[in-house]
Amino acid sequence: MVALGVVGSGIMGSGIAECAALAGHEVVLRSRQQATADATMAALEKSLNRRVDKGKLSAEERDAALGRVTATSELDALARCDLVIESVVEDLAVKKHLFSDLDRLCPDPTILASNTSTLPVIEMAMETGRPEQVCGIHFFNPATVMDLVELVRPLTVSDGTMSTARAFVESCGKRAVEVADRAGFVVNALLFPYLNNAIRLLELGVASKEDIDTAMQGACGFPMGPFALLDLVGLDTSLAILEALYHEYRDPNYAPAPLLRRMVSAEQLGRKSGRGFYDYHRH
Ligand code: 3HC
Repeated sequence: MVALGVVGSGIMGSGIAECAALAGHEVVLRSRQQATADATMAALEKSLNRRVDKGKLSAEERDAALGRVTATSELDALARCDLVIESVVEDLAVKKHLFSDLDRLCPDPTILASNTSTLPVIEMAMETGRPEQVCGIHFFNPATVMDLVELVRPLTVSDGTMSTARAFVESCGKRAVEVADRAGFVVNALLFPYLNNAIRLLELGVASKEDIDTAMQGACGFPMGPFALLDLVGLDTSLAILEALYHEYRDPNYAPAPLLRRMVSAEQLGRKSGRGFYDYHRH
């Protein structure tokens, strides 16, 4: 069992914490503010309660999992972790700063990982004095449901770090694929041109968003159509991913569709804000 640190208590950070706690790991979940940390604990309890209601978890297992998680606003609390996964905003400057802080705080053996979906892990690694102990561990949304994780191998990482990261991921019941440190890795490099082009079809008036979603579900067997998926991922995150992909490759397929940018400006961010391509207030 590892002592896991998770930095950032957004959709992904809290999902990763839940997976790890259910797998028996101790988790320190760090939010910037104690109020957010407390709210995340409450949300975690609610999510675990849902599992109990569905008969998938006993009340004792729920209590044990909850007991393994400490939510805090103190970055110093991460100093006792064997592995820290950051899942803060997709902003390279913020992440680099955080890696430099973590490097100063954490003991020598601690592995530092990023849940970034598109940013260069090497740039985070080079902020530390331990670049051989830095890799990417990229979970998918919803983290508790999707069973795949991309393990990202920056140029500087050691084989030992990658094996430890793989063992952790597999202990959480996930499958791992190893990918190079290249924007979008495998999944987002393929997924985001598709999502972006769905928005362009909508802009062109080719079909309604409902019909585009229905078409891709019905014809390709996807569990949700592109607009439902964009709302799940978050339109701000989707915009940041496309911008990072476009920055790296200058491929027009990655240039964010104007409507996506406008919706983010309008704070229509998807499920998390109650409105994106669809309205979630009613549900
Ligand atoms: N959070 C947590 N759990 C959720 C959830 C959510 N947002 N949505 C659904 N679930 C759980 C349900 O509780 C249910 O669990 P159970 O089987 O234990 O009862 C299970 O998922 C199935 O849910 P439902 O039967 O209600 O609904 P669906 O069968 O429609 O499944 C879905 C929902 C799992 C979200 C499915 O639609 C799906 O797989 N969608 C595609 C998701 C996807 O592609 N994710 C990758 C996004 S890209 C990404 O993450 C990369 C990043 O870098 C941006």
